[in-house]
Amino acid sequence: MGKVSELWLTCGGILLMLCVPSVFGWGAQGHFAICKMAQGFLTEDALTEVQALLPEYADGELAAVCSWPDEFRKLMPWSTALHFVDQPDSSCNYEYCRDCHDTDGNKDRCVTGAIYNYTDQLQLGFHKLSSEMNYNLTEALMFVSHFFGDVHQPLHAGFLGDSGGNTIIVSWYQNETNLHKVWDDKIIETSLQTFHNSDLSSLIQAIQSKISGVWFTESLSWRNCTSDSLACPDPYASESSELACKFAYKDVTQGAALGDEYFLSCLPVVEKRLAQAGVRLAATLNRIFSSQLYQSHKIECPTPSTYLYDSI
Ligand SMILES: *[C@@H]1O[C@H](CO)[C@@H](O)[C@H](O)[C@H]1NC(C)=O
Ligand SMILES: *[C@@H]1O[C@H](CO)[C@@H](O)[C@H](O)[C@H]1NC(C)=O
Ligand SMILES: *[C@@H]1O[C@H](CO)[C@@H](O)[C@H](O)[C@H]1NC(C)=O
Ligand SMILES: *[C@@H]1O[C@H](CO)[C@@H](O)[C@H](O)[C@H]1NC(C)=O
Repeated sequence: MGKVSELWLTCGGILLMLCVPSVFGWGAQGHFAICKMAQGFLTEDALTEVQALLPEYADGELAAVCSWPDEFRKLMPWSTALHFVDQPDSSCNYEYCRDCHDTDGNKDRCVTGAIYNYTDQLQLGFHKLSSEMNYNLTEALMFVSHFFGDVHQPLHAGFLGDSGGNTIIVSWYQNETNLHKVWDDKIIETSLQTFHNSDLSSLIQAIQSKISGVWFTESLSWRNCTSDSLACPDPYASESSELACKFAYKDVTQGAALGDEYFLSCLPVVEKRLAQAGVRLAATLNRIFSSQLYQSHKIECPTPSTYLYDSI
C-alpha cells in the first residue's frame, strides 16, 4: 500500500492537516501562533513572495502550514534530527560543532543546521542563483517557518540523556505526560483554558500587544543578526539551552507533580519564546526576500571523527 493511502486510512479520510497529532516541536497551536505573528511583520515584498510559495490550501496564511514538518514527519524519517539540537547532560550551553549532528554523527543535521540549509535554499532560489537548483522552495519555506519555532522551544536544546525531556514522566495537574510535552503543548493549552476562553486568537493578540508594548524596545534587538548574515540561529539555541536549565528542568525529577507553581513561573518564558520566534522568523524572511544578498555564516566544523565519539 502506498504511503499516502496508509496515511489516509489512519486519518479516517478526514483532512490531512487536522488529524495527525504533533509529536515534535511546539504543538500545532504554538507553531500556528508563531507564524501568524510573523506574517504580520513581513514587508510587502516578502509577503508577496511567501504567499506565492504557499500551497493553495493555505489560502495565503503561512500559519496554516507551519506544522507541516510534524504532520509528515513519518513520511520523512530523514528529517527527524532536524527538529532539535540536544546537548551532553547537564550542559547548559549549546555549541554548534559539538552538538549539531544526528545520532550517526552526521554534521549539520540539527535544527540550527537545518535553518542555515533552508534559508540558503530560499535566498538562492529567490535570486535565481542556481540554475540547476532543484530544491522545492515551498517545502523550504515550511521547514524554515517550523524550525524557527522549534529552536525557540527550550527543550529542543535539552539533554541527550532524556531526549529533551521526553523520557521524564511527570503529572501535569491530573494528567500524566512527559516534560517535553509540557513545553510543546501543556503550558499553552492550560494558558488557553485559564486565560483565553480556549481562543487561540486571544492568546496571539495578548502576545502581540506585549511585542508592541512592554517588549517593544528589546524586540528591536531580537531581530538582530550580524550585519551581512542571512540567518543567525546559534544565539537562539544558546538561549534555549540556558532556559532549559533555568526553567524547564529546574527542580523537576522523574515522576514530579507539576501544577500552578510551575505553570505560572514558566508561562512568561513560553510567551516570550513564541514572540521572539515570530519576530525573528519575519526578520529573516524579510532579509531572504529583499534585493540585498546576505551571507550564510554557518560555522565550518572539523570533520566529525576528530570531535565526535572520541572515546568509542
Ligand atoms: C537540506 O535540505 C535538503 C532538501 O530538503 C535535505 O535533503 C537535507 O537533508 C537538508 N539538510 C539539512 C542539514 O537540513
Ligand atoms: C513541493 O512540495 C509540496 C509540498 O510537499 C508539494 O505539494 C509540491 O507538489 C512540490 N512541488 C514540486 C514541483 O515538486
Ligand atoms: C487532562 O486531560 C483531559 C482529557 O484529555 C483534558 O480534558 C484536560 O484538559 C487535561 N487537563 C489538563 C490540566 O491538561
Ligand atoms: C540591535 O538592533 C537595535 C535596533 O536596530 C540596535 O539599536 C542595537 O544596537 C543592535 N544591537 C546589536 C547587538 O547589534
